[in-house]
Amino acid sequence: MVALNQDELRSRVEDDFDRVVELLSDKVALKSVSAQGITGAHMRRSADFVADELRKVGVQAKVVQSSNPDGTPGAFEVIGSKTVDDHAPTVLLYAHHDVQPVPDASAWDTDPFVATEVDGRLYGRGSADDGGGIAIHSGALHALGGDLKVNVKVFIEGEEEMGSPSFIPFIEAHREEFASDVIIVADSGNWSAQIPSLTTSLRGNTDVDVNVKVLDHPVHSGQFGGPILDANTVAAMLIASMYADDGSLRIPGLLGGDPVGGLQRDLDEAGVRGDAGTVGSYRLAGNGSLASRLWTKPSISVIGFDAHPVEGSFNVISPETTFRLSIRTAPQQRPEEAQRAVTDFLTAHAPFGAEVKVSAIDAGMGWSMDPDAPATKGALAAMQEAFGVAPVNKGEGGSIPFIPELQRIFPQAQVLVTGPEDPKANAHSPNESISLSALKNNIITEALILEKLAH
Ligand code: BES
Ligand code: MN
Repeated sequence: MVALNQDELRSRVEDDFDRVVELLSDKVALKSVSAQGITGAHMRRSADFVADELRKVGVQAKVVQSSNPDGTPGAFEVIGSKTVDDHAPTVLLYAHHDVQPVPDASAWDTDPFVATEVDGRLYGRGSADDGGGIAIHSGALHALGGDLKVNVKVFIEGEEEMGSPSFIPFIEAHREEFASDVIIVADSGNWSAQIPSLTTSLRGNTDVDVNVKVLDHPVHSGQFGGPILDANTVAAMLIASMYADDGSLRIPGLLGGDPVGGLQRDLDEAGVRGDAGTVGSYRLAGNGSLASRLWTKPSISVIGFDAHPVEGSFNVISPETTFRLSIRTAPQQRPEEAQRAVTDFLTAHAPFGAEVKVSAIDAGMGWSMDPDAPATKGALAAMQEAFGVAPVNKGEGGSIPFIPELQRIFPQAQVLVTGPEDPKANAHSPNESISLSALKNNIITEALILEKLAH
């Protein structure tokens, strides 16, 4: 068996790169926002497009509509395979074709659904998350072409940004079809556009809704204000009670940990501040390494709050309110356990005896890499070769909750979490973009990983 060398692969990827950028640009134009309805015609079009693109690189691909656990129609999934040798290892390539919404296009410097290249980055919704993952798989399969020495299965999901409700039931129902030795999840990213990373851990994500009730009806704020605190104020007190003075969480039973595999390099405070766009006077909350605060300790964000808008407000005490918490959990903590810890804390800390009701919305588990898996070592070597610099381990604060579920279904499979993002990618935000030089190196990396897995 002739091993393809890095130079040969690089020149193949260079020659094919215009096609990959065009694929990505066409993908951005499809506006595959799953929050606008996973069963919509726009999602079907997006899935059909991805299936066509996979066929162009030799994958037998089809679009299948999954079913939700309650039996209703689910997302349009793209599944495919390319079998080369029954005795060779099988690799499952994952990405998702749905994208985050664009609530305010005016916050973008370019049209979010017209891919636009500026200074070596391609801007557009889904250009990175996770159009970039699709582009990596397509580019790598094209580069290997007839030299591919492993069997490949492909799953391009249509509802990742909605928490993947039907993905795992679908995989379980088609267990044989997706059984594989290695799973590459290309939905995370690198340390930077220049420095590659394997993702060592992901946090879990669980949402809870908290209802705070003070009165059974609204009352005049002058007549009752003073002894009667409005529900918004009580909710604010309740939220604040979760934090110590330094801004770290003080909820018993909510676990935190240290970076998985040890901290190779801490994040740079100025970099994090710049990427997030903090105002100059803002002080970062919490304690310990910045990496642990972002990757392996829990965090809680208020992502929704039912309060009267300022416009049109009047002098009345709000009787009740609901807010939604997004809880990012440490990689090793069971999400139900975290939900229970938060629920117990909030109900025990109800300010002034207000009624506090907590309802759990969903629960996605975090994940930690197996540093000793052979595929992990091969992937790190591939990164070093493709990028020309040593990879740096990186945890992620975001979540891909189906990974531990996949690992449960396929306990023998080695999971590699890679991806197109870097800290400047602005996933989920305005001005999302992908670094084109990193995309090229990511494609070469994946082709090299597939090469190495054959040996
Ligand atoms: N690609 C992200 C996860 C991610 C974010 C990885 C940042 C690396 C860096 C993924 O598409 C995502 O956003 N997942 C959701 C999961 C949720 C819907 C359960 C998330 O993290 O909010
Ligand atoms: Mn993603």
